Amino acid sequence: MTDSVTILGLESSCDDTGAAVVRHVVGEAPELLSNVVAGQTELHEAFGGVVPEIAARAHTEKLDLCVEQALAEAGLGLGDLDAIAVTAGPGLIGGVLAGVMCAKGLAAGTGLPLVGVNHLAGHALTPRLTDQAEFPYLMLLVSGGHCQFLIAKGPDEFTRLGGTIDDAPGEAFDKTAKLLGLPQPGGPSVEREAREGNPKRFKFPRPLLDRPGCDMSFSGLKTALLRERDRLVAEHGGLRVVDRADLCAGFQAAVTDVLAEKSRRALREYMGLAPSEPVLAVAGGVAANQAIRAALETVCAEFDTRFLAPPLALCTDNAAMIAWAGIERFRTGHRDGFDLAARPRWPLDRSAPAMLGSGKKGAKA
Ligand code: KG4
Ligand code: ZN
Repeated sequence: MTDSVTILGLESSCDDTGAAVVRHVVGEAPELLSNVVAGQTELHEAFGGVVPEIAARAHTEKLDLCVEQALAEAGLGLGDLDAIAVTAGPGLIGGVLAGVMCAKGLAAGTGLPLVGVNHLAGHALTPRLTDQAEFPYLMLLVSGGHCQFLIAKGPDEFTRLGGTIDDAPGEAFDKTAKLLGLPQPGGPSVEREAREGNPKRFKFPRPLLDRPGCDMSFSGLKTALLRERDRLVAEHGGLRVVDRADLCAGFQAAVTDVLAEKSRRALREYMGLAPSEPVLAVAGGVAANQAIRAALETVCAEFDTRFLAPPLALCTDNAAMIAWAGIERFRTGHRDGFDLAARPRWPLDRSAPAMLGSGKKGAKA
């Protein structure tokens, strides 16, 4: 095995174009040499969501610039790399294709090996990039398009314990913000309002807590909130500041309770593997929520488990996680040919049944 591996990673599965260089020397902590992300928020703003065609075109325009910048910041040339890693799915197919074609071009031009990476594996392996977490660890992926509990057992070995059967929590935060006239992305705006609100005034449902297992559901919560909003508007002729804050606080408390209780169940199952250093790690934009973080920390303390929350820039979509997952795959001997396909769907746990609604409404993973 090569002692030192340096990989350029590319990410373009949704609305962030990323290029990053990561170096790993066996026995040492991985080194993040650069991590460039070019967002597209302003391109999609007027449409109320990510427009796949606009995203794909922007990735095509930005990818080579991001690669140039990532190499410059790392102080390296293409000749200093050992391989090119790229998100080959799941995601918006046009964007994934743009990244895969760029990576193939670079691999063809330099003769470097090509390594296709699962975007979700990128998120799921991040605790090893940031904190050298040892397998097996428990992972909660909680973003705008995904919500699932995974046990990471190896670079390409994940067991899904459960996930959302409809909306992802980030999606529910975004819809809540929309219903209450708050700015997007909804998570931070709802969290801000919730700080001033009373979480107990409205009794929002805690879906699926009455059922065993780790599956979750968040779409009913949004409907309950809509009903309360309409009742308040009919009663007062509009939403008062206090109503909005209380609605946000009640909604956030319900999401937090569900994530905390399902984390307990996932931890119970994970503890059955008798991990020597138990870890629960989170990834995804929703992990930025302070109330949710605090609740998960409390749950971890109950189980004497370490709680890992990577820095936000490595929790949300980025190419450093792709470069790192590329290094892990590369070290297992994995190489892809020029027939590497862009895959819109690519479940991490191939043995688990397909999730009913996951990813249906939010393509972002
Ligand atoms: O991981 P991410 O950047 O993109 C993907 O969905 O992959 O996550 C974005 C999601 C959005 O839905 C956003 O509203 C949510 O994460 N989010 C939050 C917070 N910050 C971002 N949700 C709750 N509280 C937050 N502070
Ligand atoms: Zn993602």
